Amino acid sequence: MSVPAYKLNDETSLPAIGLGTYKLNGFASVAAIMSGLSMGYRLVDSAVNYENEGAVGAAVRKTEVPRDEIVVTSKLPGRHHAYGEAVLAIEESLLSTGLDYLDLYLIHWPNPITNRFVEAWQALIDCQERGLVKSIGVSNFLPEHIQRLIGETGVAPAVNQIERHPYYPQSAQVAFDSSLGIRDEAWSPLLRGVIGREQPSLAEIAAAHGKSAAQIILRWHVQTGVVPIPKASSTARQAENLDIFDFELTAGELAVIAAYATPGGQVHAERQPAVYEEF
Ligand SMILES: NC(=O)c1ccc[n+]([C@@H]2O[C@H](COP(=O)([O-])OP(=O)(O)OC[C@H]3O[C@@H](n4cnc5c(N)ncnc54)[C@H](OP(=O)(O)O)[C@@H]3O)[C@@H](O)[C@H]2O)c1
Repeated sequence: MSVPAYKLNDETSLPAIGLGTYKLNGFASVAAIMSGLSMGYRLVDSAVNYENEGAVGAAVRKTEVPRDEIVVTSKLPGRHHAYGEAVLAIEESLLSTGLDYLDLYLIHWPNPITNRFVEAWQALIDCQERGLVKSIGVSNFLPEHIQRLIGETGVAPAVNQIERHPYYPQSAQVAFDSSLGIRDEAWSPLLRGVIGREQPSLAEIAAAHGKSAAQIILRWHVQTGVVPIPKASSTARQAENLDIFDFELTAGELAVIAAYATPGGQVHAERQPAVYEEF
């Protein structure tokens, strides 16, 4: 399975779907990530706080897929936003993965209460210049945070990874990011497995295409220009989630799904980037 890719604003390439890895830890997760790579995933998510950079790195080093075809992502935790600590955290991510470089490094949360995300961003910029990371971006950043990064450093993120699914489509954030050439990734793209509680009309759309409800949601992400990173531990679900590039949702179907947007539709309602603190 060959996955299409976007060109980012720094000229690097980002696959249209990735593999989430939150809760994938230990030896079994190395096998699970290798399985994903062998079937065609070329983007792998991770974070210092998932405590699985070792597993991701082992899978990337062991797989037969060439290193330069894989986009390995990690994220800087809030406790290391101070400039010097951020640089050390990135160096530690390289040591943990056992890789010479990472492809995409994100600031995990803005943590605006501590107000150090701009110096963290400067650390990412400098590590990119040193060749430690190819692309740099953010996660859970609101427009006001992104404007500060650009205003104070002149460098726009390549990616913003945000919570997104049909109940919480984040249309305004996606439009803002897109206007600056920032590509969005969707975390909890399947509502963290709440899929199954979906609207009856989703089952109808799925039946019309001979696909599962999960595949319809993932296709909706792709057709709306956002990169979903579903986490799946089994080979069967990984394959199901990847098998979304042979059909097209109609404008009418996209409109039906757009109507699922619900005020307060977040899975993680407590995680408001303006106030949430992640260390
Ligand atoms: N930047 C951030 O702040 C942030 C926050 C949260 C997550 N993330 C990233 O985003 C990734 C994805 O988000 P997530 O893990 O929260 O949620 P998700 O991908 O929406 O959902 C994962 C859950 O859905 C199940 N699942 C996977 N494929 C399925 C299918 N085809 N049908 C039915 N169920 C299916 C998985 O089960 P099994 O595993 O049992 O197969 C798992 O329980 C994470 O793994 C992480 O890498 C980032």
